[in-house]
Amino acid sequence: MALRTAGSVLVVFLWSVAVVLGQNGWSVTYTTQRICALKGSTVELTCSYIYPRGYRVTTTFWFTKIVDVENYVNLTDDPDYKDRGTYRSDRMNGHTLKITNLRESDSTEYKFRFITDQTRGKYFGNPGVTLSVTDLQVKVTTTWWSTTLTCSTTCTLTGNSTYIWYRNSKIVQVASSPSYSVYFKTEDSFYCAVKGINSPAVSVRAQSYFHLTYTHQRICTLKGSSVNISCSYTYPRSHTVSETKWYIKGKLDEAPQILSPGYGGRVEYLGNMQSDSTLRITDLREEDTAEYKFRFRTDQTNWEPTFPGTTLTVTGLQVKVTPATVTEGQKVKLTCITTCTLTDNPNPTYIWYKNGHVTTQSNSLFLKPVSSEDAGRYSCAVEGHEDLYSPEETLTVRYGPKSTSVSVSPSGEIVEDSSVTLTCSSDANPPVDKYTWYKKNGASLTGSEKTYNFTTISSEDSGEYYCEAENKYGRLNSSSVSMDVQC
Ligand SMILES: *[C@@H]1O[C@H](CO)[C@@H](O)[C@H](O)[C@H]1NC(C)=O
Ligand SMILES: *[C@@H]1O[C@H](CO)[C@@H](O)[C@H](O)[C@H]1NC(C)=O
Ligand SMILES: *[C@@H]1O[C@H](CO)[C@@H](O)[C@H](O)[C@H]1NC(C)=O
Ligand SMILES: *[C@@H]1O[C@H](CO)[C@@H](O)[C@H](O)[C@H]1NC(C)=O
Ligand SMILES: *[C@@H]1O[C@H](CO)[C@@H](O)[C@H](O)[C@H]1NC(C)=O
Repeated sequence: MALRTAGSVLVVFLWSVAVVLGQNGWSVTYTTQRICALKGSTVELTCSYIYPRGYRVTTTFWFTKIVDVENYVNLTDDPDYKDRGTYRSDRMNGHTLKITNLRESDSTEYKFRFITDQTRGKYFGNPGVTLSVTDLQVKVTTTWWSTTLTCSTTCTLTGNSTYIWYRNSKIVQVASSPSYSVYFKTEDSFYCAVKGINSPAVSVRAQSYFHLTYTHQRICTLKGSSVNISCSYTYPRSHTVSETKWYIKGKLDEAPQILSPGYGGRVEYLGNMQSDSTLRITDLREEDTAEYKFRFRTDQTNWEPTFPGTTLTVTGLQVKVTPATVTEGQKVKLTCITTCTLTDNPNPTYIWYKNGHVTTQSNSLFLKPVSSEDAGRYSCAVEGHEDLYSPEETLTVRYGPKSTSVSVSPSGEIVEDSSVTLTCSSDANPPVDKYTWYKKNGASLTGSEKTYNFTTISSEDSGEYYCEAENKYGRLNSSSVSMDVQC
């Protein structure tokens, strides 16, 4: 009953929206209302809009989330779509949202909003575009004479798709049909692909089959951390698993490198020897980057799938300073970079360290304007892995002279005919390269060095002295020191 009520409410609601559209001339038309796309692929959603005369559109964007009233999250600003969602519009009133590297969590409704220069002139097209993201699975149907493999998705892929079937990694069928039939006994392994995206694979053997699925096709993780590479498998009921092995596919002509538990003191096997296995590697190094595969032996056979395993990429962290050299007052951006997007944390918050101390937590560090105090050694780490920080990168800030001062040596009373040295000091980067000496209300001085010497000082030299320090970025005068020469 409840469902039926909800359904009729929905119908009334849609109907009334349609009427409003017709009357007022506001609408958004989506090119496609439902899209089913593959995980990992790219999708484009397009719409156009109309509005009554007398308005001027000031803002347009796509969104999926509404934080509260009138607070729609601009999708291109949404961290969930960082580096994946882009919006472009063309002169023909086409407004396209492109999302790359689709994730299952992107399955939702996408709507387009436009805002005009008048307070009440705002609109979004409802319903929007429903996107469903699916992965590929191989379904096996067996009869006494054949085995049919179907490349299955949880929704029907939008557009014409070409299914490619691989048998032992070689293409055996390219067709618009997702099914492939095998008519004889075989121990080969099969997998399918659509638009370059692969399914996990199955191995067919007579009327029973071996089936192996790696949890991930790719994993990207941090150097120094640990990883769990896992798979699940099935095999004929009459068999018993006697041995499981994880290995790294050797280079051409090279034997596979078996990673037995304990290997290098960093390898562990987790799992039950029945349906799943996990290879755990701790203290990861960049050299661990490789393709990891699994095979098992039963009391009756040895099964080694030929399809791709899990590709592990181990990345270090690196601080990138842009621009590389900066002058005080300009702006500088420090970003923490990895060579791949971290699988378990695609949108990490970074912890920033300056000279070994935590300074802040943020995606990147914007220093604008940058000050000389910001200079230092910076490194970054991913939140949750604070101990795995990047090598330090030095931020050099160039600035003109600061706190210029004059000192007198020897200090204390100055006696006629003694020798006296004035020294001009100033903080600057690069260091001061030009000094000018002045005497208040006196003749100009000729010295242009950091020190100004009186070999035999006379009472006429009494007075107030100051200096000017200069480098490429500026100049600054010191306050004056007074010298009183005693006879
Ligand atoms: C949405 O975000 C993009 C990228 O940050 C920006 O270019 C665009 O102007 C934003 N639109 C609105 C309406 O805020
Ligand atoms: C999809 O396939 C149908 C039937 O074969 C064909 O008529 C249509 O033009 C194809 N569409 C595209 C976009 O290729
Ligand atoms: C790997 O699995 C072990 C045991 O289940 C678990 O304690 C650990 O947190 C997992 N590590 C990662 C990185 O997922
Ligand atoms: C002044 O004297 C000091 C110490 O004798 C010497 O190092 C410096 O070069 C002299 N400065 C000038 C400008 O001659
Ligand atoms: C320093 O003082 C001299 C003499 O008074 C003056 O010509 C010069 O402009 C001053 N320099 C600065 C940076 O103020």
